[in-house]
Parts: sequence; structure tokens; C-alpha cells
Amino acid sequence: MIDFRTVRQYNFPTTIRFGANAIEELPQHLLNVGFRRPLLVSDGTVVQLDFFRNIQTSLAAKKISVEVFSDIHKNPVKSDVLKGKASFSETERDCIIAIGGGAAMDVARAIALSIHHNRDLFDYDDLIGGDKYITGRVPYFITVPTTSGTGSEVGRSAIIAEDDTHKKRILFSPKLLAKIVFADPMLTMDLPPFITAATGMDALTHNMEAFIAKDFHPLCEGIALEGMAIISQSIVAAVNKPDLESRSKMMIASLMGAVAFQKGLGVVHSLAHPLSALLDTHHGLANAVNLPYGMRFNRSGLEASFKKMAVAMNLKDDQDEGLIKFLFSLNEQTGLPVKLRGIGVKPEHIETLAELAENDFCHLNNPKPVSREDFKRLYLEAL
Ligand SMILES: NC(=O)c1ccc[n+]([C@@H]2O[C@H](COP(=O)([O-])OP(=O)(O)OC[C@H]3O[C@@H](n4cnc5c(N)ncnc54)[C@H](O)[C@@H]3O)[C@@H](O)[C@H]2O)c1
Ligand SMILES: [Fe+2]
Repeated sequence: MIDFRTVRQYNFPTTIRFGANAIEELPQHLLNVGFRRPLLVSDGTVVQLDFFRNIQTSLAAKKISVEVFSDIHKNPVKSDVLKGKASFSETERDCIIAIGGGAAMDVARAIALSIHHNRDLFDYDDLIGGDKYITGRVPYFITVPTTSGTGSEVGRSAIIAEDDTHKKRILFSPKLLAKIVFADPMLTMDLPPFITAATGMDALTHNMEAFIAKDFHPLCEGIALEGMAIISQSIVAAVNKPDLESRSKMMIASLMGAVAFQKGLGVVHSLAHPLSALLDTHHGLANAVNLPYGMRFNRSGLEASFKKMAVAMNLKDDQDEGLIKFLFSLNEQTGLPVKLRGIGVKPEHIETLAELAENDFCHLNNPKPVSREDFKRLYLEAL
């Protein structure tokens, strides 16, 4: 039963320049807003790609001084952020541009937070109420996504792990939203098939989990339905035979997923997070494998929502678990494993994984409660 007396807050994101070659507007934009000393935050792979060098060249051509920071982990940790902060200060930067996937964008957002916020980074952890310390004193922040998955370009949070335990902490505040996003699908043109598939399934998971998450948020639900529709039309093409249309669709749909999950996520993300913490599994891959199992767990009692999702994805209906079968087939068609063994999970990991999953915050928004036993059962089913 929805309580219509409750006051809810709906937030929507920021300025987005979306389309092929949108990145070419970046240098002039910087001059327009009066910044000439950006810190470019990326990762060790992206900085070696042609488009990254082109961005550097185009900035230099406008006499913009560039410093690059890319010394980050695949699942970023606090020391990455502190090194980036030092680089910003030592080289006297005036703004931050994130260019990369979710990992680089999260580190960049956390660096932006750390510049004028001098408490210990994890004092700002949202789960212990740290957002109350976050003020608007944040350097001008721009995001340039180069994967289509996390949607972190329009996110307000950064997921950063503790160096020693690898426990993921969440730094969250609407003040950390980018001032402008340059979402250019051309930058994803050469994304390898495996990364396209794994990040794309993360985006699909965001849209699906947000759609069925608890709470009344029809704004997000509408976006989520359209987001999953777009992904269902384009993910296989983006992986196997990419072109501008499939890349553009995946980019906008991943961004939509992140807008939609302001409503919340669910059991699949709680199953996925411990895999990254324990086995360093890529976030999207961890979601991809767990998605069909988590959705099957949620299906009974939610038939009407499942029907809507199936229709959105052009499956006509969800009879005989049609939607679940479709999710398995997407993993197969995009070359991803359908079992946890395929990503190195062993029976002896299950107890620890289930404990970590129960402690994860995402399942609190799942439409059904999830117990430790449920997590264990789901991991065993997927093993
Ligand atoms: N802030 C949020 O709301 C949010 C949401 C979900 C996940 N995350 C975080 O995002 C991270 C995952 O992000 P991701 O899935 O984008 O992966 P990623 O950032 O780790 O990138 C995946 C790989 O792709 C490479 N890559 C990136 N762009 C490329 C390109 N254009 N061409 C070729 N290679 C390219 C990277 O170098 C990297 O090796 C995790 O750390 C996760 O915790 C954050
Ligand atoms: Fe995700």
C-alpha cells in the first residue's frame, strides 16, 4: 500500500551534451566557464587510447594546461583518491574532468569531494550519515563516460573501497553531481566485446532493479522501462557488431539506468558487490551472472511488473519465465558466463559471500525481503 501522505523528493540530473563528437566541445566549454588547469582523472588503459590523446591535444591547442592522474585500481580504493588529491594540489589545478569508466569517474568524484573537505574520506560515508558534512565547496566537475554501464557520469555517489578490507564505502551527495556531462558514443566505438557486454548488463540491471525497487517513484519507473527497452534492442549488436546506433543507444540507456536507480537497487547488486570485494570481479560481470537468478527470486508476486518489463523488451509477455530465459540468453549471446563457477567462485566462498551480501545496503530496496539463507540459496543456484 502506497502512503500518499509521505513527502518524497525526486531529483533529476544535470546538463548533458549527448551525441557523436560531443567531446569536441570540451575545450571551448572550459574557456567559457573560465577554467584552464584541469586535472584529467582516468585509468591506466584509457590514457593510452587514441581518443584520450586527442582530447589532450585539443585542450593544449586552446592553451589549456593539462595534468593527468590515472594511477587507480580496477575496484578503486581510498589511497587512489588521496594520490589524486595530492596531484590536484601539487600541480595547482582549478577543476576536475573524469574521462573513463565507472572506476575513473568514481575516483574523480571522490577527489572532487576531498579537495575542500578535510575530514577522513570515509567520515563522509553516506551509510553513517556522512553526507551531512558535504558542502557545495567542490571544484568544477565534468564527466566524460567511456563505457556504457554504471551511468556514474550522472551519479551523485562514488563507490570507494577500504584499502585493507576491500569493503566498499559510499560517498554520496547531490553536490557531487557533475556540472556538465559530455556523453560521446564515439569514445566507446572500440570498447572490447567483453567490457561492452559486462558494462551493458550492469546498465540493464540498474534499469530492472530500479523498476521493481520498493517505493513509489513513477518518474524513475518510466525512465527504467524505456532504458531496458533500448538496451534489449542494442546490447547484442553493440557487443557483436557495434555501430554508432548501438553504441549511442547503450550510452543513453546506461545513463538512464543511473537516473532510474535514484529509486533504489536490489538483490542482484547485493549478490554482486561481495564478488568484487572477495574476488575482484568486475562489477558489471558480477551483476550479469546474478541477474537471471535474482530476477527469478523476485518474480512471484510481481507478475504485473514482470509483464510490463517483458513487454518493454518486446518479449510480448512473461509467460513460462520468458523474461528470465531472455536474461540467460543475453548472457550467452554476449559471451558472458551464466554460472558463478565461470568467474572463479567455489563452494567454500558461499558462506562469506552470503554474509557480505546480507550486510550490503542495496537489498533493503528490493521488493521482497532477502535473508542470509536466501542469499546462500541464490549463490548455490548460480554456482
Ligand atoms: N557511482 C555509481 O553510481 C556506480 C554504479 C555502479 C558501479 N560503480 C563503480 O564503477 C566501477 C565499474 O565501472 P565500469 O563498469 O565502467 O568499469 P571500469 O571503469 O573498470 O572499466 C572497465 C575496463 O574498460 C576499460 N575501458 C574504459 N573505457 C574504454 C574504452 N573506451 N575503450 C577501451 N577500454 C576502455 C578500462 O580501462 C577498464 O579496464 C566499479 O568500481 C563500480 O563500483 C559506480
Ligand atoms: Fe551497478
